[in-house]
Amino acid sequence: TFARHSLVAAIAAIATTGVALQAHAATEVNLGHTLSSSSHYSVGADAFKETLEELSDGAYTVNEHPSGSLGGEREMIEGLQIGTVDFVITSTGPLGNFVPETYVLDLPFLFEDYEQARCVLDSDLGDELLAKMSDHDLVGLAWSENGFRHMTNSQREIATPADAEGLRVRTMENRVHQEAFRQMGARPTPMAFPELFTALQQGTVDGQENPITVIVATNFWEVQDYLSLTGHVYSPAIVLGSPILMDGLSEEERGWFMQAAAASAEATREEVSRLEREGVALLEENGMTVKTDIDVAPFQEAVKPAYEIFTSEYGNEMLERVQEKA
Ligand code: PAF
Repeated sequence: TFARHSLVAAIAAIATTGVALQAHAATEVNLGHTLSSSSHYSVGADAFKETLEELSDGAYTVNEHPSGSLGGEREMIEGLQIGTVDFVITSTGPLGNFVPETYVLDLPFLFEDYEQARCVLDSDLGDELLAKMSDHDLVGLAWSENGFRHMTNSQREIATPADAEGLRVRTMENRVHQEAFRQMGARPTPMAFPELFTALQQGTVDGQENPITVIVATNFWEVQDYLSLTGHVYSPAIVLGSPILMDGLSEEERGWFMQAAAASAEATREEVSRLEREGVALLEENGMTVKTDIDVAPFQEAVKPAYEIFTSEYGNEMLERVQEKA
Protein backbone atom coordinates (compact mmCIF):
# COMPACT_ATOMS: atom_id res chain seq x y z
CA THR A 1 0.00 0.00 0.00
CA PHE A 2 2.85 2.31 0.94
CA ALA A 3 4.46 1.71 -2.46
CA ARG A 4 1.18 2.36 -4.23
CA HIS A 5 0.67 5.61 -2.30
CA SER A 6 4.19 6.74 -3.12
CA LEU A 7 3.65 5.99 -6.77
CA VAL A 8 0.37 7.92 -6.83
CA ALA A 9 2.05 10.83 -5.00
CA ALA A 10 4.96 10.78 -7.44
CA ILE A 11 2.64 10.79 -10.46
CA ALA A 12 0.64 13.65 -8.91
CA ALA A 13 3.84 15.60 -8.27
CA ILE A 14 5.01 15.12 -11.85
CA ALA A 15 1.61 16.16 -13.16
CA THR A 16 1.55 19.31 -10.99
CA THR A 17 5.10 20.27 -11.99
CA GLY A 18 4.18 19.68 -15.60
CA VAL A 19 1.20 22.01 -15.29
CA ALA A 20 3.35 24.60 -13.48
CA LEU A 21 6.00 24.39 -16.19
CA GLN A 22 3.37 24.75 -18.85
CA ALA A 23 1.94 27.85 -17.19
CA HIS A 24 5.37 29.46 -17.26
CA ALA A 25 6.39 28.44 -20.77
CA ALA A 26 6.20 31.53 -22.94
CA THR A 27 4.03 31.44 -26.04
CA GLU A 28 6.11 32.33 -29.06
CA VAL A 29 4.56 34.44 -31.78
CA ASN A 30 6.15 35.38 -35.09
CA LEU A 31 6.23 38.81 -36.69
CA GLY A 32 7.30 39.32 -40.30
CA HIS A 33 8.22 42.25 -42.51
CA THR A 34 10.06 42.70 -45.79
CA LEU A 35 12.81 45.17 -44.85
CA SER A 36 16.28 44.73 -43.37
CA SER A 37 17.00 44.58 -39.65
CA SER A 38 18.30 48.18 -39.80
CA SER A 39 15.03 49.52 -41.23
CA HIS A 40 12.20 51.62 -39.77
CA TYR A 41 10.06 48.44 -39.78
CA SER A 42 12.65 46.71 -37.59
CA VAL A 43 12.57 49.66 -35.19
CA GLY A 44 8.81 49.06 -35.05
CA ALA A 45 9.22 45.30 -34.66
CA ASP A 46 11.63 45.83 -31.74
CA ALA A 47 9.16 48.16 -30.02
CA PHE A 48 6.37 45.59 -30.53
CA LYS A 49 8.53 42.86 -29.01
CA GLU A 50 9.71 44.92 -26.03
CA THR A 51 6.25 46.23 -25.19
CA LEU A 52 4.52 42.86 -25.50
CA GLU A 53 7.12 40.97 -23.53
CA GLU A 54 7.03 43.58 -20.78
CA LEU A 55 3.24 43.90 -20.55
CA SER A 56 2.72 40.14 -20.59
CA ASP A 57 5.51 39.66 -18.07
CA GLY A 58 7.20 37.20 -20.41
CA ALA A 59 4.08 35.13 -21.12
CA TYR A 60 4.60 35.98 -24.82
CA THR A 61 7.85 36.23 -26.76
CA VAL A 62 8.14 37.63 -30.25
CA ASN A 63 10.35 36.12 -32.96
CA GLU A 64 11.12 38.76 -35.54
CA HIS A 65 11.47 37.70 -39.19
CA PRO A 66 12.81 40.62 -41.25
CA SER A 67 13.97 40.79 -44.90
CA GLY A 68 11.00 38.94 -46.36
CA SER A 69 12.03 35.67 -44.73
CA LEU A 70 8.31 34.85 -44.29
CA GLY A 71 7.60 35.99 -47.88
CA GLY A 72 6.59 39.17 -49.69
CA GLU A 73 3.85 41.40 -48.28
CA ARG A 74 0.97 39.80 -50.21
CA GLU A 75 2.15 36.36 -49.20
CA MET A 76 2.48 37.32 -45.53
CA ILE A 77 -1.05 38.77 -45.49
CA GLU A 78 -2.29 35.43 -46.83
CA GLY A 79 -0.26 33.78 -44.04
CA LEU A 80 -2.19 35.82 -41.46
CA GLN A 81 -5.48 34.62 -42.90
CA ILE A 82 -4.54 30.96 -42.64
CA GLY A 83 -2.61 31.31 -39.37
CA THR A 84 0.93 30.48 -40.52
CA VAL A 85 1.97 34.05 -39.72
CA ASP A 86 0.92 35.79 -36.45
CA PHE A 87 1.83 39.45 -37.03
CA VAL A 88 2.98 41.52 -39.99
CA ILE A 89 4.17 45.06 -40.54
CA THR A 90 3.31 45.85 -44.14
CA SER A 91 2.70 48.78 -46.44
CA THR A 92 -0.87 49.12 -47.71
CA GLY A 93 0.49 48.41 -51.21
CA PRO A 94 -0.97 44.90 -51.59
CA LEU A 95 -3.68 45.34 -48.94
CA GLY A 96 -6.30 46.63 -51.38
CA ASN A 97 -6.34 43.15 -52.95
CA PHE A 98 -7.75 41.88 -49.64
CA VAL A 99 -9.56 44.93 -48.23
CA PRO A 100 -10.63 47.10 -51.20
CA GLU A 101 -11.65 50.00 -48.92
CA THR A 102 -7.92 50.68 -48.31
CA TYR A 103 -7.14 51.36 -52.00
CA VAL A 104 -8.16 54.97 -51.37
CA LEU A 105 -5.11 55.50 -49.12
CA ASP A 106 -2.73 54.72 -51.99
CA LEU A 107 -4.08 57.35 -54.37
CA PRO A 108 -1.26 59.59 -55.62
CA PHE A 109 -1.02 63.10 -54.15
CA LEU A 110 -3.83 62.38 -51.68
CA PHE A 111 -1.96 63.83 -48.69
CA GLU A 112 0.21 66.94 -48.67
CA ASP A 113 2.51 66.14 -45.81
CA TYR A 114 3.19 63.75 -42.94
CA GLU A 115 1.15 65.71 -40.44
CA GLN A 116 -1.95 65.52 -42.58
CA ALA A 117 -1.57 61.82 -43.37
CA ARG A 118 -0.95 60.83 -39.75
CA CYS A 119 -3.87 62.95 -38.61
CA VAL A 120 -6.30 61.17 -40.98
CA LEU A 121 -5.03 57.71 -40.05
CA ASP A 122 -5.30 58.53 -36.35
CA SER A 123 -8.89 59.77 -36.73
CA ASP A 124 -12.15 57.82 -36.38
CA LEU A 125 -11.90 57.17 -40.12
CA GLY A 126 -8.55 55.42 -39.58
CA ASP A 127 -10.15 53.35 -36.79
CA GLU A 128 -13.03 52.47 -39.08
CA LEU A 129 -10.60 51.21 -41.73
CA LEU A 130 -8.71 49.19 -39.12
CA ALA A 131 -12.01 47.60 -38.05
CA LYS A 132 -12.79 46.70 -41.70
CA MET A 133 -9.88 44.24 -41.64
CA SER A 134 -11.93 41.80 -39.60
CA ASP A 135 -14.41 41.39 -42.48
CA HIS A 136 -11.49 39.89 -44.43
CA ASP A 137 -9.95 37.45 -41.91
CA LEU A 138 -7.40 39.97 -40.67
CA VAL A 139 -7.02 41.99 -37.45
CA GLY A 140 -6.04 45.65 -37.91
CA LEU A 141 -4.00 46.72 -34.86
CA ALA A 142 -2.42 50.10 -35.68
CA TRP A 143 -1.55 52.47 -38.52
CA SER A 144 2.19 52.62 -38.86
CA GLU A 145 4.22 54.28 -41.61
CA ASN A 146 6.37 53.66 -44.66
CA GLY A 147 6.61 57.24 -45.96
CA PHE A 148 6.23 59.45 -49.03
CA ARG A 149 7.40 57.58 -52.12
CA HIS A 150 9.97 58.93 -54.57
CA MET A 151 11.30 57.61 -57.88
CA THR A 152 14.75 56.13 -58.44
CA ASN A 153 16.21 54.75 -61.65
CA SER A 154 19.43 53.74 -63.36
CA GLN A 155 18.98 55.70 -66.61
CA ARG A 156 18.45 59.45 -66.18
CA GLU A 157 17.32 62.31 -64.00
CA ILE A 158 13.55 62.61 -63.77
CA ALA A 159 12.24 66.16 -63.48
CA THR A 160 8.96 65.86 -65.40
CA PRO A 161 6.59 62.98 -66.24
CA ALA A 162 8.02 63.03 -69.79
CA ASP A 163 11.38 61.95 -68.35
CA ALA A 164 9.74 58.78 -67.02
CA GLU A 165 8.42 57.82 -70.45
CA GLY A 166 9.32 54.29 -71.46
CA LEU A 167 11.11 53.51 -68.19
CA ARG A 168 10.39 50.06 -66.78
CA VAL A 169 9.37 50.90 -63.24
CA ARG A 170 8.71 48.27 -60.61
CA THR A 171 5.52 49.08 -58.71
CA MET A 172 3.88 47.40 -55.77
CA GLU A 173 1.14 44.88 -56.48
CA ASN A 174 -1.38 47.72 -56.37
CA ARG A 175 -3.69 48.59 -59.27
CA VAL A 176 -3.92 52.28 -58.35
CA HIS A 177 -0.12 52.64 -58.48
CA GLN A 178 0.18 50.68 -61.71
CA GLU A 179 -2.39 52.91 -63.38
CA ALA A 180 -0.69 56.10 -62.16
CA PHE A 181 2.63 55.04 -63.70
CA ARG A 182 0.97 53.94 -66.92
CA GLN A 183 -0.58 57.41 -67.16
CA MET A 184 2.88 58.96 -66.76
CA GLY A 185 4.04 57.01 -69.81
CA ALA A 186 6.23 54.61 -67.81
CA ARG A 187 5.99 50.83 -68.11
CA PRO A 188 4.82 49.62 -64.69
CA THR A 189 5.97 46.14 -63.64
CA PRO A 190 4.30 44.88 -60.45
CA MET A 191 6.61 42.73 -58.38
CA ALA A 192 6.98 41.56 -54.77
CA PHE A 193 9.66 43.52 -52.94
CA PRO A 194 12.01 40.59 -52.15
CA GLU A 195 12.58 40.16 -55.92
CA LEU A 196 13.33 43.82 -56.55
CA PHE A 197 17.03 44.24 -55.79
CA THR A 198 18.03 41.46 -58.19
CA ALA A 199 15.65 42.78 -60.85
CA LEU A 200 17.33 46.20 -60.63
CA GLN A 201 20.77 44.64 -60.61
CA GLN A 202 20.05 42.53 -63.67
CA GLY A 203 18.29 45.38 -65.49
CA THR A 204 14.93 43.56 -65.71
CA VAL A 205 13.53 46.90 -64.54
CA ASP A 206 15.15 50.36 -64.76
CA GLY A 207 13.64 51.92 -61.70
CA GLN A 208 11.43 51.67 -58.68
CA GLU A 209 9.70 53.99 -56.24
CA ASN A 210 9.88 53.93 -52.46
CA PRO A 211 10.33 56.25 -49.48
CA ILE A 212 13.76 57.49 -48.32
CA THR A 213 13.46 55.00 -45.46
CA VAL A 214 13.38 52.03 -47.84
CA ILE A 215 16.01 53.41 -50.24
CA VAL A 216 18.37 53.78 -47.26
CA ALA A 217 17.55 50.40 -45.66
CA THR A 218 18.02 48.53 -48.95
CA ASN A 219 21.27 50.18 -50.18
CA PHE A 220 19.57 51.00 -53.46
CA TRP A 221 22.49 53.31 -54.35
CA GLU A 222 24.33 50.14 -55.35
CA VAL A 223 21.93 49.63 -58.28
CA GLN A 224 20.27 53.06 -58.82
CA ASP A 225 22.03 56.34 -59.73
CA TYR A 226 19.14 58.81 -59.79
CA LEU A 227 16.63 59.81 -57.15
CA SER A 228 13.84 62.33 -57.78
CA LEU A 229 11.94 63.61 -54.78
CA THR A 230 8.51 63.35 -56.42
CA GLY A 231 6.70 62.45 -53.18
CA HIS A 232 3.98 61.14 -55.49
CA VAL A 233 2.20 59.01 -52.92
CA TYR A 234 2.07 58.65 -49.16
CA SER A 235 2.60 55.00 -48.26
CA PRO A 236 0.99 54.03 -44.96
CA ALA A 237 2.04 50.89 -43.14
CA ILE A 238 -0.17 48.82 -40.89
CA VAL A 239 0.40 46.36 -38.07
CA LEU A 240 -1.82 43.37 -38.77
CA GLY A 241 -2.56 40.30 -36.67
CA SER A 242 -3.92 36.87 -37.49
CA PRO A 243 -7.50 36.24 -36.33
CA ILE A 244 -6.51 32.63 -35.72
CA LEU A 245 -4.28 33.80 -32.88
CA MET A 246 -6.14 36.95 -31.81
CA ASP A 247 -9.64 35.41 -31.60
CA GLY A 248 -8.46 33.04 -28.89
CA LEU A 249 -7.10 35.76 -26.60
CA SER A 250 -8.63 37.12 -23.42
CA GLU A 251 -9.61 40.79 -23.29
CA GLU A 252 -6.49 41.55 -21.25
CA GLU A 253 -4.17 39.76 -23.67
CA ARG A 254 -5.76 41.49 -26.62
CA GLY A 255 -5.04 44.80 -24.90
CA TRP A 256 -1.33 43.91 -24.61
CA PHE A 257 -1.12 43.24 -28.34
CA MET A 258 -2.96 46.48 -29.16
CA GLN A 259 -0.54 48.45 -26.98
CA ALA A 260 2.45 46.69 -28.51
CA ALA A 261 1.20 47.62 -31.99
CA ALA A 262 0.63 51.25 -30.94
CA ALA A 263 4.20 51.43 -29.55
CA SER A 264 5.48 49.87 -32.77
CA ALA A 265 3.71 52.46 -34.93
CA GLU A 266 4.96 55.35 -32.80
CA ALA A 267 8.59 54.17 -32.92
CA THR A 268 8.38 53.61 -36.68
CA ARG A 269 6.97 57.08 -37.33
CA GLU A 270 9.78 58.63 -35.29
CA GLU A 271 12.34 56.74 -37.35
CA VAL A 272 10.64 57.82 -40.59
CA SER A 273 10.85 61.46 -39.44
CA ARG A 274 14.55 61.06 -38.57
CA LEU A 275 15.34 59.57 -41.97
CA GLU A 276 13.36 62.30 -43.74
CA ARG A 277 15.76 64.77 -42.08
CA GLU A 278 18.99 62.81 -42.54
CA GLY A 279 18.44 60.24 -45.32
CA VAL A 280 18.92 62.35 -48.47
CA ALA A 281 22.42 63.49 -47.41
CA LEU A 282 23.29 59.85 -46.75
CA LEU A 283 22.10 58.81 -50.22
CA GLU A 284 24.14 61.63 -51.82
CA GLU A 285 27.20 60.54 -49.85
CA ASN A 286 26.70 57.11 -51.35
CA GLY A 287 26.77 58.52 -54.88
CA MET A 288 23.14 59.09 -55.82
CA THR A 289 22.25 62.17 -57.86
CA VAL A 290 19.25 63.67 -56.11
CA LYS A 291 16.76 65.97 -57.84
CA THR A 292 15.10 67.92 -55.06
CA ASP A 293 13.20 70.89 -56.55
CA ILE A 294 10.51 69.01 -58.46
CA ASP A 295 7.46 70.83 -59.79
CA VAL A 296 4.78 68.30 -58.84
CA ALA A 297 1.92 69.96 -60.80
CA PRO A 298 2.59 68.08 -64.09
CA PHE A 299 2.85 64.81 -62.14
CA GLN A 300 -0.47 65.54 -60.43
CA GLU A 301 -2.05 66.25 -63.81
CA ALA A 302 -0.62 63.08 -65.34
CA VAL A 303 -1.98 60.75 -62.65
CA LYS A 304 -5.53 62.21 -62.56
CA PRO A 305 -7.01 59.28 -64.54
CA ALA A 306 -6.01 56.97 -61.68
CA TYR A 307 -8.58 58.84 -59.58
CA GLU A 308 -11.28 58.31 -62.21
CA ILE A 309 -10.52 54.62 -62.41
CA PHE A 310 -10.66 54.38 -58.63
CA THR A 311 -13.97 56.27 -58.25
CA SER A 312 -15.64 54.45 -61.14
CA GLU A 313 -14.96 51.18 -59.36
CA TYR A 314 -15.27 52.07 -55.67
CA GLY A 315 -17.37 55.26 -55.72
CA ASN A 316 -16.61 58.70 -54.27
CA GLU A 317 -17.65 58.28 -50.67
CA MET A 318 -14.45 57.08 -49.04
CA LEU A 319 -12.32 59.48 -51.09
CA GLU A 320 -14.49 62.44 -50.10
CA ARG A 321 -14.37 61.44 -46.44
CA VAL A 322 -10.56 61.23 -46.51
CA GLN A 323 -10.31 64.57 -48.31
CA GLU A 324 -12.64 66.20 -45.79
CA LYS A 325 -10.50 64.98 -42.88
CA ALA A 326 -7.21 65.99 -44.53
O1 PAF B 1 7.85 48.76 -52.23
C1 PAF B 1 7.28 48.01 -51.40
O2 PAF B 1 6.84 46.89 -51.71
C2 PAF B 1 7.07 48.53 -49.99
O3 PAF B 1 7.20 49.90 -49.95
C3 PAF B 1 8.08 47.91 -49.00
C4 PAF B 1 9.47 48.27 -49.36
C5 PAF B 1 7.93 46.40 -49.00
C6 PAF B 1 7.81 48.41 -47.59
O4 PAF B 1 6.53 48.18 -47.15
